[in-house]
Amino acid sequence: MSNSDRVIIFDTTLRDGEQSPGASMTRDEKLRIARQLERMRVDVIEAGFAIASPGDFESVQAIARAVKDSTVCSLARALDSDIDRAGEALRDANSGRIHTFIATSPIHMKYKLQMTPDQVVENAVRAVKRARGLIDDVEFSLEDASRSEFEFMCRIIEAVIDAGARTINIPDTVGYAVPQQYGEQMRRLIETIPNSDQAIFSVHCHNDLGLAVANSLAAVSAGARQVECTINGLGERAGNASLEEVVMAIRTRRDFMNVETGIDTTQIVPASRLVSSVTGFPVQPNKAIVGANAFAHESGIHQDGVLKHRETYEIMTAQDVGWNTNRMVLGKHSGRAAFRSRLEELGTSFATDAELNAAFARFKDLADKKHEIFDEDLMALVSDARAEAASEKYRLSSMHVTSQTGETPVANVTISVDGVEHSSQAEGSGPVDATFKAIEATANSGASLQIYSVNAVTQGTDSQGEVTVRLEKGGRIVNGLGADTDIIIASAKAYIHALNMLDANVQKAHPQV
Ligand code: KIV
Ligand code: ZN
Repeated sequence: MSNSDRVIIFDTTLRDGEQSPGASMTRDEKLRIARQLERMRVDVIEAGFAIASPGDFESVQAIARAVKDSTVCSLARALDSDIDRAGEALRDANSGRIHTFIATSPIHMKYKLQMTPDQVVENAVRAVKRARGLIDDVEFSLEDASRSEFEFMCRIIEAVIDAGARTINIPDTVGYAVPQQYGEQMRRLIETIPNSDQAIFSVHCHNDLGLAVANSLAAVSAGARQVECTINGLGERAGNASLEEVVMAIRTRRDFMNVETGIDTTQIVPASRLVSSVTGFPVQPNKAIVGANAFAHESGIHQDGVLKHRETYEIMTAQDVGWNTNRMVLGKHSGRAAFRSRLEELGTSFATDAELNAAFARFKDLADKKHEIFDEDLMALVSDARAEAASEKYRLSSMHVTSQTGETPVANVTISVDGVEHSSQAEGSGPVDATFKAIEATANSGASLQIYSVNAVTQGTDSQGEVTVRLEKGGRIVNGLGADTDIIIASAKAYIHALNMLDANVQKAHPQV
């Protein structure tokens, strides 16, 4: 296939994905995900929005320094200050890109930007020129393109290509498009704009109507050669087009699509697990490609067919996307080297020996309770160890919970707050409710609980429970994580992790507000 048949995969898990409420990630977590994306051979990694906060700047900079084989990109509004900050964060990148954008729909220009169309064009051109003064690779996005006027889009795109933009992104920001119309719009833009051959056209679709992947594929069929997407479809509101679905659709239906990507698809499941464990967003079992049931054949007829001839019911193999068929990986007698190496295969590495030792100690502890340790166990225990290591203010010291038929559950919890131990007791409608009330009797955080979810990490009653606790306070939303074979303890850990995240009080700007 020639270059014109190659679709660039632009991953925005670390930027648009992080805009999903509660999905904020630390610099180290982003770095781990970026390394996994590089291993998966993603072409462009959108590492963040450098001007949003000092933490975002550091994340983009750290990823730009660490990643060598993928282009690293920072988002920037069409403002000098944003572009300069993005350029600074990307200074050490092997291959860097500034992605600047401005809204082009009548509704956004009038009410959000309060600018005339002429002013929008002028700002866009100035932004692209400024970015080109810092870096060669500049992308320009027309925010809310799917609700923008065709003639105006042609005008602004022609002007920004003349100003030096190499990639033109046509986002369906609000998830409004439908495939036929979106594809047609892409085709007409490429055909109509006189200098369209000097840029790569790109898509960025949100999933409000569940059409993000379908819209992305329609745009590729119409000539787009970059798809912006996220692992597990993470992203603002209903999310973005899911990378794994786009990539596997292009690969499985190459007979029809006639294009290819450069993705190493065997890294997809490890990437999905990593993003899920870092963000605390579980993957639904029936999710395409990466859901636990995606390759499971429950019904007798299907099983019979698959055993006789796999292709009767399978259009791709579990191995193609990185599912490990022999999933019992480590046991009680496994050593530190095997532990580290399996986690590296899963996309997780340790920054220090102390971090490795702490996780390995947990592994030994878990292996005493549960003799078969699966990949899912490893991922859960590592994110639990990291959540605890990141806990600065509050720490769980001990707890005792009683739950008995006919009696009200009671929890006694001791937590240390800034190194000083406090104990409290509370009753609740169940043991988890009592535990959270006992923690709150000490912490008195004023936060409200938005989501409580428990996910069995593996099969069997000896499974670890991975708990997500989402707390909200003053408009800030955080997801706390905890894992343990005792789900009440896992719940307490997750609650305390969330309190610590609220305490960290990270403030950052949202690019589209
Ligand atoms: O959805 C959107 O329009 C965006 C842009 C910033 C590309 O995320
Ligand atoms: Zn978006």
